[in-house]
Amino acid sequence: STQGIGYANGKIILMGEHSVVYGEPSVAIPFPATQIKTTVQAAEGETTIECLFYKGLLNDMPELLESLKAVIQVSLDRLGQNESLSINIDSTIPAERGMGSSAAVAVATTRGIYDFYKQALSHEELLEIVDISEKIAHGNPSGLDALMTSSSTPYYYIKGQPVTPIELRLAAVLVVADTGKTGQTKEAVASIGEKIRGKNKALYQRKITELGRLAKDSKDYLSHNQPEQLGLAMNQAQNLLSELGVSSLELDALVVSALSHNALGAKLTGGGRGGCMIALARNLNEAQEIATALEEAGAKATWLYEMSGD
Ligand code: MEV
Repeated sequence: STQGIGYANGKIILMGEHSVVYGEPSVAIPFPATQIKTTVQAAEGETTIECLFYKGLLNDMPELLESLKAVIQVSLDRLGQNESLSINIDSTIPAERGMGSSAAVAVATTRGIYDFYKQALSHEELLEIVDISEKIAHGNPSGLDALMTSSSTPYYYIKGQPVTPIELRLAAVLVVADTGKTGQTKEAVASIGEKIRGKNKALYQRKITELGRLAKDSKDYLSHNQPEQLGLAMNQAQNLLSELGVSSLELDALVVSALSHNALGAKLTGGGRGGCMIALARNLNEAQEIATALEEAGAKATWLYEMSGD
């Protein structure tokens, strides 16, 4: 019998999480699919879902998976199909860790369904469908996660503007570490929204603008191979994100540990309040030392991402 397959990768936001929601620039890179990815298989059968959190009928899906349900329904509607479809989701992207797992599941599911029906899916249409799901999952998504989990190049991204691929010329190694605590993207995005509208709004707006400026500068650091400058910008971004209330004790502890083991810079990545942090290392040896230190400081998992600088 026929089968549809869809893939998606994880993502790392180097700069601009949260401020990207307010129209500021951001810089993100796809996480190599050789390390983590989401795979979806769609096949004929009863309309069932099988994933890490649930196995059963589409209609009985828990509230938590409402965004996934929306992806499936919107995809079937757009294709003019109401056939039954069994969907099997296999993801090695840790859930709720700021690596884009929710967008990746939506991307891979949409691709899997379109592939099952042998219908072409433009990147634009894919992003539209995933945005519907991300709105349910996060409330106010910038579109960055949808873009990055469906792309294989680093991007400079501003909400609502044409995307620009980044020429990655940085010779450095990124260490990614998981605090093991689930992040709270929806709550974190909402809490910054309150600050931006609250009585100290000018203060918080300045922090958002500053995060945008750091992202803009970082794009040049990546294409001109300036790891020291990128590291400093990462540290400044971490301070601002912390002042905006989206860091956590665990994230702070890992940042301190990375910096005391020669990292050029360190910050949270993604929604924050848990999830993952990133540290920038000069080379693979130093990256391995940092990763070991982070595991000793409580990281539940670490990954290395070598940027070759060519
Ligand atoms: C979450 O990975 C990134 C945020 O900037 C939210 C968004 O861009 O939609 C926190």
